[in-house]
Amino acid sequence: MIGVYDSGLGGLGVLRALRKRMPRADLLYLGDTLHLPYGEKPPGVLQNYAEQAFAFFEKQAISALVVACGTVSATVLESGRPCAHRYPIFGVVRPAAERALALGCRRIAVLATEATVKSGVYSRLLRQGRAEQLSLGCPSLVPLAESRAACRSDRRFMREIEAELSPLRDFSPDAIILGCTHFPLFAECIGELYPSAVLIDCGAAALDALPARLFEVGGGESTYCVTGSPELFRASAERMGLLDRRETVRKVRL
Ligand code: DGL
Repeated sequence: MIGVYDSGLGGLGVLRALRKRMPRADLLYLGDTLHLPYGEKPPGVLQNYAEQAFAFFEKQAISALVVACGTVSATVLESGRPCAHRYPIFGVVRPAAERALALGCRRIAVLATEATVKSGVYSRLLRQGRAEQLSLGCPSLVPLAESRAACRSDRRFMREIEAELSPLRDFSPDAIILGCTHFPLFAECIGELYPSAVLIDCGAAALDALPARLFEVGGGESTYCVTGSPELFRASAERMGLLDRRETVRKVRL
């Protein structure tokens, strides 16, 4: 069984993409919705949340974990502190930075949570690759994704995204890393605002980088767990087409 972990429903997009690649794998999703949003919390708190989630997955005897959360990938997995668990853990930050550099992009904007930006991980990785980078914390996009991502055609919605991304205008990026797994929900709007930039979805880059040995077989089961309200999670996820009506969502305590 492969675990997929995020603070909320952003990681569901990663789980769905993983399901397409591994139709017969058993997948276990954990959304730590009780502690959402992660992106505003300090690294010590995030480390504690992540350790609890890692211990939960350990009890479920998973064989590998995809951390479908830019914030945990940046502040915990890339922090240099050891994470001792029986299963391998794969994050989304390094694969996204590597993809942008491999594409030859030289002016790379990173849209992420405040915690990811403060970690400095993207700026370090992209500078090592000799690219100019501008990392932008987008605090209003996570609640927007959790609440209203269904209203994509709404002009007000588009204006909110445009305002949040306005510091990018003068930078004229040739690539934009969607460094939070909630942000691919806005890919269409961002693509309209910056049509000449390549959009790099950190979750998709992470899945492309998974080792082939992970393509395991099983019963093709998906299990969904959240630490907050299953009803609220289900309502938002269904509205965005990220969860099927037949799936059940369980509440768990970490
Ligand atoms: N989806 C998460 C990320 O990729 C975190 C969003 C949040 O909880 O602030 O960073």
